[in-house]
Amino acid sequence: MIACRMTDPRSPAADAFKAFEREGWESVAGSYRDAFSSLTRQYVGALLDAVAAGAGVRLLDVACGPGDAAAEAAGRGARVTGVDFAAAMVAQAARLYPRVEFRTGDAEALPFDDASFEAVVINFGLLHFARPESAIAEAHRVLGGGGRLAFTVWASPEKCEGMGIVLKAIEAHGRLDVPLPEGPPFFRFGDHDECRRVLAVSGFSGVEVRELPMRWRLPSPDALLDAFLEGGVRTRGLLRAQTPEALAAIRVAARNEAARHAREDGVEFAMPAVLATGVKA
Ligand SMILES: C[S@@+](CC[C@H](N)C(=O)[O-])C[C@H]1O[C@@H](n2cnc3c(N)ncnc32)[C@H](O)[C@@H]1O
Repeated sequence: MIACRMTDPRSPAADAFKAFEREGWESVAGSYRDAFSSLTRQYVGALLDAVAAGAGVRLLDVACGPGDAAAEAAGRGARVTGVDFAAAMVAQAARLYPRVEFRTGDAEALPFDDASFEAVVINFGLLHFARPESAIAEAHRVLGGGGRLAFTVWASPEKCEGMGIVLKAIEAHGRLDVPLPEGPPFFRFGDHDECRRVLAVSGFSGVEVRELPMRWRLPSPDALLDAFLEGGVRTRGLLRAQTPEALAAIRVAARNEAARHAREDGVEFAMPAVLATGVKA
């Protein structure tokens, strides 16, 4: 299924996956912010604390999307650059936060000199990269000695209730063998040992990995599936490849399950993230 496919990073399939992701993010830039930013913004404080983002720190926000983490770091007085490979994301970030510097660029081949930054953050970017190891190696390269990298990714779908509901509804009522480019497993870095391993391989020391227990509030049970249909890339691709009948059944199943998480003003799901940090020796 979508969560378990793995490609060889040297294969052309990795390029196909990257092109699919780039095209996807270009087209959902506006709706991603509406659907997911209220959620992903919750993790920014912990992410910035992990790299000691403070006054004067040169900080790079990789896969910055609409620029929320970059802007919060700038608010702390850091000297911030945000980079994302989707021009539509960069344009949006620049519109929302005109005082912060944003530019287009690939996380796997960063357009910056060695040792240009003291801190690198990646908020929910790593799980979208075709070659996450290359992105970690690039973060290491652009950091100076003693510089810190921190990233967030989703914990497992069993713990992330909102995602689990949608994935189970697809499994039960749709097809998983739809023609989408294969990418690395979506929940790979939800495994703490995998985070530690990959950071160590790239030369990071003092690695710390922990879980952040956050919750996602949405206005209605239907808003859950809509968020993935409108604001995501991989799950959106999977949903859009279903027949209209299957999609209708997926919607009913997701709505019914989401309704079990009702609160006074809508629905609420546990959405824990994994926060991993390492220091460049
Ligand atoms: C889930 S969004 C996260 C955005 C933002 N960091 C946040 O927390 O809201 C993933 C972002 O990763 C970007 N992205 C994916 N692959 C990338 C790559 N290889 N290089 C740079 N950006 C990439 C996408 O364009 C998208 O903006």
